[in-house]
Amino acid sequence: MDETRVLTRNIREGREPVWRAEYEAAGGWEAFKKTLAELKPTEVGELVKEAGLRGRGGAGFPTGMKWSFMPRFEERPEERPAHVYLVINADEMEPGTFKDRLLMEGDPHQLIEAMAISSYAIGADIAYVFLRGEYVECQRRLQKAIDEATEAGYLGNDILGSGYNLKIYLHMSAGRYICGEESALLSALEGRRAVPRHKPPFPAASGLFGQPTTVNNVETICNVPHIVSNGADWYKQLGAHKDGGTKLFGASGHVNRPGLAEMPLGTRMGDLLEHFGGIREGRRLKALLPGGGSTPLLTADHLDTPMDYEGVGAAGSRLGTGTMVVMDETTPIVGVLKNLEHFYAQESCGWCTPCRDGLPWVERILTNLEAGKGHPGDIELLELHTKLLGPGKTFCAHAPGAMGPLESGLKYFRDELAALIPDDSDTLSLTEPANTA
Ligand code: NAI
Repeated sequence: MDETRVLTRNIREGREPVWRAEYEAAGGWEAFKKTLAELKPTEVGELVKEAGLRGRGGAGFPTGMKWSFMPRFEERPEERPAHVYLVINADEMEPGTFKDRLLMEGDPHQLIEAMAISSYAIGADIAYVFLRGEYVECQRRLQKAIDEATEAGYLGNDILGSGYNLKIYLHMSAGRYICGEESALLSALEGRRAVPRHKPPFPAASGLFGQPTTVNNVETICNVPHIVSNGADWYKQLGAHKDGGTKLFGASGHVNRPGLAEMPLGTRMGDLLEHFGGIREGRRLKALLPGGGSTPLLTADHLDTPMDYEGVGAAGSRLGTGTMVVMDETTPIVGVLKNLEHFYAQESCGWCTPCRDGLPWVERILTNLEAGKGHPGDIELLELHTKLLGPGKTFCAHAPGAMGPLESGLKYFRDELAALIPDDSDTLSLTEPANTA
C-alpha cells in the first residue's frame, strides 16, 4: 500500500530538514499568508471543525471544538488578558511513539507555520513548544526555523502588516512522562513541580499562568496549514473510514520493517502490518498495542479493524498515538505486561495513593508470575487492581492508562497467565505487602 503523504510530503530519507527557501518553494507559508489576508480567526476554527480534525496526541478530542472553548476578545479588547497562549505538546514519551520527532526534525517550518495559523485562530500572542528533554536535535532545528521565520517577517510584531503579533518559544522538558499530561505540562512550563491539576477548569478557562490557553499535539497542529490550503472537504475525503485526514502510523517490535508511514486514517490494521513488512521470520501476530503503552491490546482477530478513532474503539481499544508495538507468537505476555507496568510505576508522580502504591504492587505480582513464584489468587488480584486503579479512581489518567494493557491482557491471555502459577504454591498473595523487594 502506498503512503498518502500530506504532513510528510517534504520529509526526506535521513530526515535532512527542509529550510525556509525550500519550504517556500514547495508552497510553504502560503497558508499563513492566506489566513492573514482572507480569514477571520473564528473562520479558521470553523474550517478546522468542519474538517473534523481530531487530536493526534492520543485522546482524539475534536480540535475545532477545543479551540471554540477559548474566550474571544475581538468585541471587548479592553478585557483581553496580558497574554493568550498556544502550547504545543511535543513531550513525546508514550512508549513506542516517535512520530512527532519525525515531523519536527524533517520539516520544522511546517510546525512553525501551523503554530502561527493556530495561534491566530485562537487569538494567542505567545506560543510555546514543550519539547521532550531528549529531543535536542528537534530543539536545534525548530530554533533555526523560528529564527528564519522571524527574519522573513512571519513572526514578531504586526506580521505582514496585518496588526497581528506572535512570538514562539521552545522549552525543554526536565523529563518525566507525566509532563506530557497537559495540566502537568503547564505546571512544568511555569517552573513548578509537574503534578497534574484538577480539570475543570480546562486550559481554555485557566491555563498557563492562569490565562486562556490551548494545548495541542505536534501532529494535530501540522494538519492545519493543509486544511486552510485545500479546504475541509478535501481533508475529510483523505480518510478511509469514519474520520478524515491522514495519520502517521508507526510499527516497532516484531515486524520486518519497523518505522513510520503516513496513511489514510481508517486504514485496515492488517494492511498497515503488511506495509511494515509483516511479522518477522514468517511468524504469526500474537498481540499489539495499537497506539502506545496505554492502549488496550488487540490480537490477530482484529486484523480487519479500521485504524481510526471509531474503528479501534469498536474493537475494544483506542487509536492512541497510532504507533503500534507488535508482538509475535513467541512473546510471553507476562513479560510485556511487566515491562509496561514497570514503566508506569516508575513514572507515577506519586500524588495519589492508588497510583503511587497500586502500580508497584501490580508490577510485583507480574514479576513474581514471570519468575514462577506466583500464588493462587494472583489473577483475581490483578483483576481487582484494574478496578481500583481504573477511570475515576485516581487524580489523572496515568494509572487508568496503565490498566488498559493489563485488563486486555487478562481478557485475551488469562489462561497463559494462570498457567504460570506453580501447582505447589499455596500462599495467598493478598497477604503479601506491596513494596518489599
Ligand atoms: P483527555 O481526554 O482528558 O483530554 C484530551 C484533550 O481534550 C485535552 O486537551 C483536554 O483539555 C480536552 N478536553 C477533554 N474534555 C474536555 C472538556 N469537557 N472541555 C474542554 N476540553 C476538554 O485526555 P488526556 O489525559 O489529555 O490524554 C490521554 C491520552 O494521551 C491517552 O490516549 C494517551 O495515549 C495519550 N498520551 C500520549 C503521549 C504522547 O507521547 N503522545 C504521552 C502520554 C499519553
